[in-house]
Amino acid sequence: MREKVITVFTVIILLTICIFSSLSVSAVELEIFSWWTAEGEKEGLQALFDTYRVLYPESRIKNATVAGGAGSKAKDVLKTRMLDGNPPDSFQVHGGPELINTWVMSGYMKPISDLWQKEGWQKIYPESIIDMISYQGEIYSVPLNIHRSNLLWYNKKIFTKYNIIPPTTLNQFFKVVKKLKSKGVTPLALSSKNKWPVTHLFETILAGVAGPHFYKKLVKGKASWRDENVLKSLRILKEIFKYANDNSTSLTWDGACQLVLDGQAAMTIMGSWAAGYFKANSAVLGEDYNFCPVPETGNYFIVLTDTFGLPVNAPHPKRAVNWLQVIGSAKAQVKASSKMGSIPVRIDISSDNFGPFIQAQISAYRNLILLPSIGHGAAVINTFAKSINDQFGIFLYQQNPEKTAKRLEKLARDFGVYDNN
Ligand code: GAL
Repeated sequence: MREKVITVFTVIILLTICIFSSLSVSAVELEIFSWWTAEGEKEGLQALFDTYRVLYPESRIKNATVAGGAGSKAKDVLKTRMLDGNPPDSFQVHGGPELINTWVMSGYMKPISDLWQKEGWQKIYPESIIDMISYQGEIYSVPLNIHRSNLLWYNKKIFTKYNIIPPTTLNQFFKVVKKLKSKGVTPLALSSKNKWPVTHLFETILAGVAGPHFYKKLVKGKASWRDENVLKSLRILKEIFKYANDNSTSLTWDGACQLVLDGQAAMTIMGSWAAGYFKANSAVLGEDYNFCPVPETGNYFIVLTDTFGLPVNAPHPKRAVNWLQVIGSAKAQVKASSKMGSIPVRIDISSDNFGPFIQAQISAYRNLILLPSIGHGAAVINTFAKSINDQFGIFLYQQNPEKTAKRLEKLARDFGVYDNN
């Protein structure tokens, strides 16, 4: 009998401890959702957490990441959570249709214009970026950084060994890849495990081939996906595939960067976050690797911006707002961009805070023609972007430009891309 009483008593004590400790943990928790798990990305995320913790040491951060570059897996998980009424406190979302059409127009986000007003951010953020996160006069997120998609990265030693000058035109590019292939070097590292890197490659080729006028018309639904510009870009892409590694389906974007670092491939086309990956791997710009714009796109900056917003049912809205204040702070933007290879969004941050790569991108952003990224939520709605990725996954196998253009055109129609014309 005595033993039974002791057991019941112990169980009660343990239960009480559990309830209280879980209450106290959830009371101080802040859940941040993102896909930043690759090298460079995760250091950038950690820098944000560290900046937040200095200001709010009592707060425990739950790092809810779902691996898969460009949110290829995270976006589906987020969707389930949002629809189930179980949102994180704040989540990574690209400025543009990915934020506005997916989450704002459907009523899942809280406007944070008051916070913008209080922080005086309007004066220190580029107008074009504010436009990407605004809807019907309200602002819905805080941009952390700006990335550029149209960059070509190369192994410096291979280029030096074969006396190769970074190509600025597609003609030069094809001469370079032919030369490398003839020397037994894999010219281009491609990753297609998560499909989006093929879309990424396509958008950079399209920008160069079609030019900014057509590019903008296409993403606004004012030009056809069966246009000769799209077909021509697809044919070029098909030609480029001949010079890529044959294990692309098993590689993610960082794996392709690693091939370049290891000298197993000479080049890769990837966004500015590749700089974060190289830095995290202690590679030296100008010695181990270097970069140039994707051929034919030297005058363009294909833009995407990582932002954080406030979901309507965020479990800890006050803490989430504190997080957003951190995201908008100069300190966090400098620290995160230094790790991630992006540029800060605030225009009051001096380039002196950064090394030569980021400095060059800051100047490029200020001087070049800006185009929204198709593959990274800045140009087309999520549903269409996802289908575009699927089509490029298929294109890699079938390599049929006509069929692909036809399917993309049908998808654009089905998703209502042409509806406002
Ligand atoms: C982009 C994102 C970048 C980087 C990249 C690779 O969509 O904006 O910050 O994370 O994906 O995962």
